[in-house]
Amino acid sequence: MSSSKIVLTGVKPTGQPHIGNYLGAIRPALAMAKEPNTRSFFFIADYHSLINTHDAKVLNEMVYEVAATWLACGLDVKSTVFYRQSDVPEVFELNWILSCFSAKGLMNRAHAYKAKLAENQEAGKEDLDFGVSMGLFSYPILMAADILMFGTHKVPVGEDQIQHVEIARDIAQKLNRTYNSEVLVVPESVLQKESKLVPGLDGRKMSKSYGNTIPLFSDEKVLRKLVMKIKTDSSGPDEPKDPDKSLVFDLFKEFARPEQIAELRQSYLSGISWGNAKEALFQAINSRLKGPRERYNELMAHPEEIDRLLRIGGDEAREIASQRLKDVRKIIGLEH
Ligand code: TRP
Repeated sequence: MSSSKIVLTGVKPTGQPHIGNYLGAIRPALAMAKEPNTRSFFFIADYHSLINTHDAKVLNEMVYEVAATWLACGLDVKSTVFYRQSDVPEVFELNWILSCFSAKGLMNRAHAYKAKLAENQEAGKEDLDFGVSMGLFSYPILMAADILMFGTHKVPVGEDQIQHVEIARDIAQKLNRTYNSEVLVVPESVLQKESKLVPGLDGRKMSKSYGNTIPLFSDEKVLRKLVMKIKTDSSGPDEPKDPDKSLVFDLFKEFARPEQIAELRQSYLSGISWGNAKEALFQAINSRLKGPRERYNELMAHPEEIDRLLRIGGDEAREIASQRLKDVRKIIGLEH
C-alpha cells in the first residue's frame, strides 16, 4: 500500500453530461483508477461550482447528476475513494493555510482570472475586475488544497488545468521550503489527451455551448433521433463512402467492438446508405449505454443511495485529511 501512487482528480458539476464528456474524461479516468499500484481519489468539486452557481436547487441537482453519472459508468466505491469536496472540511482549513503561502501575483497570472479580465476589456468595462469574486480569483488555491490534502502524486487533467497543478506545486514547495520539511507531497499533472476531440452533431467539437451534443443518458428515442441528425455528405444510398471522412464512423469507432468496426468499414467501402450507417451507430451506442442509463435513472430516483455511497468515501477521505492537517498544523506552530 505504501508504495502505491496516489492519483486524484476532481470534477466540477456542470449539469447533464454528454458523450464527449464520457469519451474525453469519464472513461479514461475510470481506466486510470484501475491501474495497478494506484490508490485513486475521485471527488465532486461542489464548492468550486459555488463560484458561478448561486441557485441552491440547481447546485444540489448538479451534484447528484455528476455523482450518479460516474457511479453509473462504473466507478467502484470499494476501490476508489469517491467523495464530495464539501464533506471534507479539512480541505478548507488547508485552503487558508495555503493562501498564506500563495503570492497574489501568482493568482494574477492564472488563466481563468486573466480570461475574465480580457473579457471585461473587450466589453469596454472600466473595472476590469467586474464580476470577479474572491472565489474565482483564488480558485487555484482551493484546487491546490484539494490536491495537497491527500498526498497526491499524480493529477490527471485536461490541458486547461495544467497551470493549476503547476500552481499547486509552487505553493507546496513554498510551504515545504519555509519549514524545511516535506510535509506536502509535490504533485505532477498527467495530461489527459482531450480524447480525440469528440465531434458533435455538426462536426465541431461536441460542446454544450455549440448545442451539438448527444446527452449521455438520453432515452432510446431521443438518442436515435439525435444520431439521425449527424451531419453527412449528400452521397446516395448505394454509393461507396470514405469511412475516414465520416462523423458517423468516427463515433462508431468509439463504441463498437473491433470486428464490428472492420465490418462497417467494409460496408462503407462497398456502399451503405447513411440511414443504415446511422442505425449501426445508434445500436452501438445504445448497447453500450443501456445498462449505465438504467443505473443512472435508478440512482437519480434514489438520491439517498447516492448519499450513502458518497458517505463511504467521505468518511475515508476525512480520516486521511485530518491526519495530514495535524501534520501541517504541527509544522506551522499551531499544534495544540
Ligand atoms: N478545476 C477542475 C475543473 O474545472 C476541477 C478540480 C477542482 C480539480 N479541484 C481539483 C481537478 C483537483 C483536479 C484536481 O475541471
